[in-house]
Amino acid sequence: MKLKAGLIGCGRIGTKKHLEAVIKNSDLLELTAVCDVVKEKAENAANIIEKSGLKKPKVFTDHRILLEEPLDFVAIATESGKHHDVTLDALNAGKHVLVEKPMALSTKDADEMCSVAEEKNLKLCVCFQNRFNPPIQELRKKVELGAFGKIFHAHVAVRWNRNKSYYDQASWRGKWSMDGGVLSNQSTHAIDLLQWMLGGNVREIYGHIANLNHPYIEAEDLGIGVVKFENGSVGIIEGTSNVYPKNLEETLAIFGEKGTVVIGGLAVNKILTWRFENEDSHPFMDLPDPETVYGEGHVPLYENFAKSIIENKAPYITGREGMKALEIILGIYQSSLENRPIGFPVNFSTEKMKTVTRKESESL
Ligand SMILES: NC(=O)c1ccc[n+]([C@@H]2O[C@H](COP(=O)([O-])OP(=O)(O)OC[C@H]3O[C@@H](n4cnc5c(N)ncnc54)[C@H](O)[C@@H]3O)[C@@H](O)[C@H]2O)c1
Repeated sequence: MKLKAGLIGCGRIGTKKHLEAVIKNSDLLELTAVCDVVKEKAENAANIIEKSGLKKPKVFTDHRILLEEPLDFVAIATESGKHHDVTLDALNAGKHVLVEKPMALSTKDADEMCSVAEEKNLKLCVCFQNRFNPPIQELRKKVELGAFGKIFHAHVAVRWNRNKSYYDQASWRGKWSMDGGVLSNQSTHAIDLLQWMLGGNVREIYGHIANLNHPYIEAEDLGIGVVKFENGSVGIIEGTSNVYPKNLEETLAIFGEKGTVVIGGLAVNKILTWRFENEDSHPFMDLPDPETVYGEGHVPLYENFAKSIIENKAPYITGREGMKALEIILGIYQSSLENRPIGFPVNFSTEKMKTVTRKESESL
């Protein structure tokens, strides 16, 4: 029998990627309910599903009413600052949850989301779809095989452009209470990949953020972090939304004792360097860039999540796993604010960044 799903938040990513994932996984699941506080957006999403040849979902404008429906899971694609509250409502209504990134804007909220899911024996999955990019999967296999030997360091660079018209489209973007800046929004996928490849357990972080070119947003447009992992590896993070004149690249580089891999392209979708003993190239070196930086990963992510419910196993990216990137980002924010290295675990919230004035943020 197919799972019944609901979508809460029918904005940009909801309609672009979640609906596509639903349609392409229609052998496993059926979207029976959609919700947006703006009725026309929910109607639009329902119409897209109907036009694809599937049954039109019921339309809601209040997610708490949607949660009274007999649904197996909900996907949450509201503004980031609302993920925590909507997730708790869904878990308390007995639904499994697939939540967009970043899962929350404080370590306390993210921890609570994970704990409630665990207590209720419900699945919680965070939407880090780039983990499913074919080159990233190839890299992951090498990491799991130990093919790098010791990994010395890794570097991620998110070098994109977000201009005023992007921020004008949605007033929540760039606000500390709803979003954060280029680290929290655009770079979170790359930070997730970096921590995943380097073993996940962070000892200490040092960070610096600044807002150099976006006077109309509260949060950072440049973020830098140096992450020391417990196993001795070091991660270097660079995220910027200031690249002239358009998106340049999202690149992950891994440097180990016996291997070097660089995956770049618009959104970590293309192998640039692949060097191991007796291997100096890979068939995925000439992959085309995806249409958008969102890539194609929502489809396999939905498939994995649906199967995790059907087969009662952990999803590929659990809440606890999704929380690791958030902790690194919040660690960078705290480090920049307090001008000192931050030991893990981190206990911080983007709300604490609200104390930073505009003038200070230019040189944070
Ligand atoms: N995985 C990715 O690559 C990716 C890409 C873009 C955005 N995102 C994330 O997805 C989320 C949404 O981003 P977006 O660009 O689509 O934003 P958006 O503003 O276009 O859409 C958010 C929608 O949620 C609706 N909404 C708000 N509260 C609601 C509620 N209680 N019930 C129902 N609907 C509600 C809003 O009306 C809006 O239509 C953010 O967390 C963002 O970080 C993820």
